[in-house]
Amino acid sequence: MEICVIGAGYVGLIAAVAFAKFSNKVICVEKNGDKVNKLNNGVPTIYEEGLEELLNECLEDEKLLFTTDINKAVRESDIIFIAVGTPTCEDWNVDTSQLFNVINQISSSIHNYKIIVTKSTVPVGTQKNIKKQLINNGVSPSKFDVVSNPEFLREGKALNDFLQGDKIVIGSDSLRAKSIMEKLYTPFNIKILFTNPSTAELIKYASNAFLATKISFINEIANFCTKTGADIDIVAYGLGLDKRISKEFFKAGLGYGGSCFPKDTKALVKIGEKYDSNFDIIRSVINVNDKQRLMPVKILLEHYNDLENKVISILGLTFKPGTDDIREAPALYIIKELISQGAIIKCYDLMASNEIKDIYPTIDYCNNVYDCVEDSYCAIVCTELDEFINIDLKKMRDKMQVGMIIDGRNIYNINDIEENGFDFYYSIGKQNKN
Ligand code: UDX
Repeated sequence: MEICVIGAGYVGLIAAVAFAKFSNKVICVEKNGDKVNKLNNGVPTIYEEGLEELLNECLEDEKLLFTTDINKAVRESDIIFIAVGTPTCEDWNVDTSQLFNVINQISSSIHNYKIIVTKSTVPVGTQKNIKKQLINNGVSPSKFDVVSNPEFLREGKALNDFLQGDKIVIGSDSLRAKSIMEKLYTPFNIKILFTNPSTAELIKYASNAFLATKISFINEIANFCTKTGADIDIVAYGLGLDKRISKEFFKAGLGYGGSCFPKDTKALVKIGEKYDSNFDIIRSVINVNDKQRLMPVKILLEHYNDLENKVISILGLTFKPGTDDIREAPALYIIKELISQGAIIKCYDLMASNEIKDIYPTIDYCNNVYDCVEDSYCAIVCTELDEFINIDLKKMRDKMQVGMIIDGRNIYNINDIEENGFDFYYSIGKQNKN
């Protein structure tokens, strides 16, 4: 099939490469010309396992092309996937302006039947609004259908999730579009759920809200473990043995970050307001997460009272391992708060994108984890990178001013901590030393 993907961000780029892998002819539109050049030369613009190889394979087979020419790409395609950003505004409303700009741009290029598909996460009711907008722009209803096909991929595992995900959700109110979408996705051999567009749009938000709920729930239980001497890993294991609960997504820590959970939970609350639905649980999930990511600052202030001029080391800046993405990473919030307390920040994460240097230009970015902990009053583990899990604890302790770790990802065990001479160890819901 002839496919156009608009937007070469995370979702768009992965979708474009994946569709090309299954012998479709894909044109991916991106307004940033530098990105287009890089991608046409086989250089991925994001880090993602397996992406570089597959991108180059598809380019060599001439199944994939990147362009800035949106109208030509649309004219030459049967299915148009829209994968542009739908960020959350300060007031938690979803900003769909990029999506509707695309609709306005492509309207004049729809001369024969096309399926317009939203891959971006969009508020319930967006499919109907896109249809209205296309008709307002003079496109005949016989020339298009609009389908919702949300994406559930995780950063770091994005290609794998696209090619071998648990489900494909297709929301369509047209049998013609449904059967073409079915043909496109059949080679993926993944269960397809066909439903109406509003249901598909809501499945995406409800999935992310539920997963975020599991994380805030386990973090709340973990904080209670800290007070009572229970062990969160064993509590989570015990819970997960019940198939109705499942063991997945039960790792306690500094809370969720990234490009989806923080934005989609807030967006769902805001969308709910329009329908007089308060979403009490999701509001609490957001609250718990906001507090959880600042847990290390709370511990430090209780421990030291005053952080003025104390060196604090931040181990890990990305929101999770396996990605360079720092969006909504707990480390960002912790650093902000520590700076306001007068602490001197040293941090270490060679994977983290350079964007962080624009946000915090004055803090110390170390090239080595042992330099990062030198003279430190506390090391805070914000991301569970292998390098921190396998660190030489003795060497680390010797470099530090005070042997104190706040293990925001529960990667160490108390015996190793004690054996290597640390005086203070704080975890999330496991045995502490203080
Ligand atoms: C998530 C969803 O998993 C994916 O389906 C959706 O399409 C986009 O959002 P992603 O943001 O890439 O994917 O990361 P994920 O691996 O799900 O982790 C999200 C956050 O939750 C991370 O900050 C992670 O550290 C945290 N997390 C996850 C926990 O704290 N505990 C867990 O048990 C799992």
